[in-house]
Amino acid sequence: MLDFEKQTITLVPTLPSSSLPAPQPPSSPGKRVVRVHQPEQAQTTVGITHRDLAADSLGYSLLLAARVIAAVYGGKSLNEAFLLLDTEPTVASVAARDVAYGALRNNGRGEFILGRLMTHPLKHAETQALLLAALYRLETRPNAAPMVVSQAVTAAGELSGGAFKGVVNGVLRNFLGQRERLFAELQHDDVAYFQHPAWWLARLRRVYPDDWRNIAAADNAPPPMTLRVNTRRISVDDYLGQLQAAEIAAEPMGSVALRLVKPLPVHRLPGFHAGLVSVQDAGAQRAAEWLDPAPGDYILDACAAPGGKTSHLLERADADVLALDIDAARAPRITKNLKRLGLTAKVRVADCLAVEQWWDGRQFDAILADAPCSAVGVARRHPDIKMLRRESDIRKLAHTQSLILDALWPLLKPGGKLLYATCSVFVEENAAQIDAFLVRWTDARRVGQEQWLPNERNDGFYYALLQKT
Ligand SMILES: C[S@@+](CC[C@H](N)C(=O)[O-])C[C@H]1O[C@@H](n2cnc3c(N)ncnc32)[C@H](O)[C@@H]1O
Repeated sequence: MLDFEKQTITLVPTLPSSSLPAPQPPSSPGKRVVRVHQPEQAQTTVGITHRDLAADSLGYSLLLAARVIAAVYGGKSLNEAFLLLDTEPTVASVAARDVAYGALRNNGRGEFILGRLMTHPLKHAETQALLLAALYRLETRPNAAPMVVSQAVTAAGELSGGAFKGVVNGVLRNFLGQRERLFAELQHDDVAYFQHPAWWLARLRRVYPDDWRNIAAADNAPPPMTLRVNTRRISVDDYLGQLQAAEIAAEPMGSVALRLVKPLPVHRLPGFHAGLVSVQDAGAQRAAEWLDPAPGDYILDACAAPGGKTSHLLERADADVLALDIDAARAPRITKNLKRLGLTAKVRVADCLAVEQWWDGRQFDAILADAPCSAVGVARRHPDIKMLRRESDIRKLAHTQSLILDALWPLLKPGGKLLYATCSVFVEENAAQIDAFLVRWTDARRVGQEQWLPNERNDGFYYALLQKT
């Protein structure tokens, strides 16, 4: 065990040192120089060294991923943390995102392992995060272990003046030496094994006694990439033909959904910029199917950004759509997405709860309430949720959702339909929310509902279609 708090480090390498190469020397001049922010504490205690790391090196991706992971542990959302990569070369940022996603999805394992190998986490957050990133890479590239360790040690040289290079080397070597034992122990620790907070697992177990393990496993795996064909521009069969011509394997799902066998960047999708397709999970594509808009319908999409479901509604029918979102930064993405797809709607930045500020008194034929929620059904796309979400959030979110339902219901015409949607699997946000709504509003009836659980084909979603009698 290493006592990093006092920095009295006794390393007991469990691999012969000859099996792992020494940390790499700086790469040749002319390569990209990485300048890493040095926390003040580190600057005062150690001399700063800047090494060269090639932008396409594993070490650089580990270093960038460590910065992203540390930002998430510091309370930033993953999307905010990814802004750190904005100025990086594409090759580095793609690789770093991959590592950051993987390490965060698997943070339960990583934290367990580090907890067994270290008496305390390092005070230097980015180096601690580097260890998580390197552990993830060691698990995904077991055959390249010596290179991963060497590159992680080189990356550690860029942090805190290189003060923790020896620690990183020692911890990763110890991991490799004790891997079998650590994995055996991990099986007996649910939080580490299923990689969810204890409160989250308890809820899954309670509501899904048969499925909770599968849900947890799906949350920890890379998500599928599914397309929605814009049938105003091309048929599903013709688009499948275009994918085949581009040697992109895909499988039809549902009415207009195509799941890619292997995810790829959108710029590689035929006709993406010309609006032939959108990226949208198969579960999310159910919203427009449930609401089934008719031409001329006056529809409110009350929580619309970035406009995935708004645009699907409009692809299905020439409806008159008012799309609201409270978030002024996200709302322009609705317009941008509609424009790419050749669709139009009225888009407004507004709080749907403040009805008097945006409603002109004309009742809607249909309303989509894709409410803010815990997003636990899409945790694999936003693995930061596992770190940032608190159990107390669920009650607060359920309260907000009930306020949204109550504010929107009077805006619906008699006979009109309201589709309530969340990307959650927690019952308080879903079926129980609607049960309570039906008690409050006696002019509402539930036409149908469905709970989608996350799996290899789709994310987790809930839908309830309500009709005003
Ligand atoms: C689940 S996301 C919507 C996703 C969107 N429907 C789509 O398919 O692309 C929920 C959205 O609700 C918005 N939101 C949260 N509270 C709101 C409110 N009071 N009024 C309007 N929008 C709100 C958030 O900004 C967020 O964009």
